[in-house]
Amino acid sequence: MIAIHNNPSEVLFHYRWIDYCEKNNIPYRLVNCYDDDIVEQLSGCSGLMWHYHQAGFKDIVMAKPLLFALEQSGLKVFPDFNTAWHFDDKVGQKYLFEALKIDLATTWVFYDKEEAIKWADRSDYPKVFKLRGGAGSQNVKLVRSVSAAHSLINQAFGKGFPAYDAWGSVKERIRKWRLGKTNAFDVLKGFVRLINTPRYAKVMGNEIDYIYFQEFIPNNDCDIRIIVIDGKAFALKRMVRENDFRASGSGDFRYEREAFDPRCVSLSFEYTHKLKAQCVAYDYVFDQDNTPRLVEISYGFANKVYDPCTGYWDEQMNWHEGPFNPYGWMVELMLKETSI
Ligand SMILES: Nc1ncnc2c1ncn2[C@@H]1O[C@H](COP(=O)(O)OP(=O)(O)O)[C@@H](O)[C@H]1O
Ligand SMILES: [Mg+2]
Repeated sequence: MIAIHNNPSEVLFHYRWIDYCEKNNIPYRLVNCYDDDIVEQLSGCSGLMWHYHQAGFKDIVMAKPLLFALEQSGLKVFPDFNTAWHFDDKVGQKYLFEALKIDLATTWVFYDKEEAIKWADRSDYPKVFKLRGGAGSQNVKLVRSVSAAHSLINQAFGKGFPAYDAWGSVKERIRKWRLGKTNAFDVLKGFVRLINTPRYAKVMGNEIDYIYFQEFIPNNDCDIRIIVIDGKAFALKRMVRENDFRASGSGDFRYEREAFDPRCVSLSFEYTHKLKAQCVAYDYVFDQDNTPRLVEISYGFANKVYDPCTGYWDEQMNWHEGPFNPYGWMVELMLKETSI
């Protein structure tokens, strides 16, 4: 019996898992991971599936500790430790990729202001600045000059950065409203959040005493996201925003198979073996030699965006045209592992 966290939100995976279990007569039990007696609720279950979210304030407090504790006791969990310890943590990912010899775009992280200034003074520009967490390009900025780098370094080792960029979010909501991708209420919400920041940002506190820079890979009009689950891969091309270098969160997508360089797919299969992970989304851009360069990974993704995907690859790089159900793959992964 698989346990599934009881949250029917359409931005999360649960309703898709439940639907797959219902249609395939797979027994499951709904549980509430926030309940004090959650461990007891899981008795008799072989696994727990929970799509926790980077902006879920309770999730930030306790999702990883609960899942890792359960995994240590022998319960199968989704996402497991190898899949998720680095979720929403680009600093952790830098070390992981260096240690596993996975080719991440060159990334520098400093914990000492003087070291950061020394590096900034001898660097060329632009570079990319990121916070360790955040999605949809929210905390990703272009650093155009040494003086811009200095001011970011001063802030990082001074008052720090809020995890939620309130002004950036207002601007992004207005951009989407102009393009007809969101409504006026969403814009209004952005203004309210200037005063009342989202709860998750309060939980996370300020990002402070580290600074993250990445090599800037220019001239990309899109990024390519490849998602690998249980030996199968599907893809999404995301166009960058107008007059911007950032694709994630733009809301402008392409799905045709020809949009995807097979090198990104085979690299993603290779990396997933190295990571020993259940489910990974890889974001790539292309450098001046047209080589795919990884910029970050994530286990979670916005499920509806991938519904129009036109097919998937298997590990032999065969293309399977037509609709498919990656949420079913996640459930099957749990059944496979639990039957070992
Ligand atoms: N080093 C880089 N060089 C060029 N473009 C980048 C680089 N890193 C990120 N980007 C662009 O910025 C977007 C957001 O960056 P990413 O690291 O994926 O953050 P997020 O977690 O917000 O998705 C990407 O979709 C990509 O288009
Ligand atoms: Mg990204």
